[in-house]
Amino acid sequence: MHGISVKEFLFWKKKQLSKGGDHQSFSFLLNCLGDISASDLNLISLNSDENLYLKKNLDFLESVWDDHLLKSCPIQYLCGITFWRDLKLKVTNKVLIPRPETELLVDIVFSIFRNKTEKLFFAELGTGSGAISIALALAYPLSDGLATDIDPDALEIATKNFINSSKQSNLKFFCGNWWSPLESFKGELDLAISNPPYIPRDTYEKLPKEVKNFEPKVALLGGEDGLKHIREIIKKAPLFLREKGWLILENHFDQSEKVKQLLAKNKFTSIEIVKDLSGIGRFTIGRYK
Ligand SMILES: C[S@@+](CC[C@H](N)C(=O)[O-])C[C@H]1O[C@@H](n2cnc3c(N)ncnc32)[C@H](O)[C@@H]1O
Repeated sequence: MHGISVKEFLFWKKKQLSKGGDHQSFSFLLNCLGDISASDLNLISLNSDENLYLKKNLDFLESVWDDHLLKSCPIQYLCGITFWRDLKLKVTNKVLIPRPETELLVDIVFSIFRNKTEKLFFAELGTGSGAISIALALAYPLSDGLATDIDPDALEIATKNFINSSKQSNLKFFCGNWWSPLESFKGELDLAISNPPYIPRDTYEKLPKEVKNFEPKVALLGGEDGLKHIREIIKKAPLFLREKGWLILENHFDQSEKVKQLLAKNKFTSIEIVKDLSGIGRFTIGRYK
């Protein structure tokens, strides 16, 4: 640990924030690499005669902060971790940083399957860091989950995240294109979930550089109209879901009506658009027959 006076630390902190960046990212850096939480920071401002102890020295923290400001690299990648729901997840630039709005997808599952001792059989297509699947596998300990991704590097991270989050063994990882690694589970799934790449090409080209230059293109780009992957997932879902099985999809802010039509065309019922906390139709859900 590196001990410094509170006065020295506050002076240093002011200097860092005067260079740019937002307070939230700076607190994230201090929390992850310095082991100083936002509440620790509030307390020390009131006790400025004390010393405080950081896991890394100020020069190291400053070099990471400078990297973040100069290259616009997301602070989560530089720190190598992110927080999502109650999980602490390893992230590298091989996986999308799981977004706060996606947390709601897990709550949608909770509202459909209320009994946490249920023996659910679920699959997540495009697991990335593993966030959604890990949250579900932990919440439903008697369930069995299958998590897929096209990128083996992403699956390696998801597997590590599962091992670090739990001692459970109810989640398995498969590499391949959407449903193809799950051929042997046809007609068996109670639930399939996906937050697929859904950004239309035009929008992708204009994404902010902290997203476009760092987050994997394969995790974001959904073809010309953004619906390429969603179409493929919906079309084959009836082969893999059991009768009355659920499909829950995250989509772009303006895609819900189109996704709803695709579900109806493929014989889904109980179709519903679920809004996120900003009132955007972010999720589209349905039941196979
Ligand atoms: C938007 S990210 C979602 C990641 C994670 N589930 C989340 O919500 O944070 C989409 C994921 O789908 C994966 N993916 C892209 N194309 C795929 C394909 N054809 N088959 C399977 N997975 C694919 C990407 O590698 C990426 O991890």
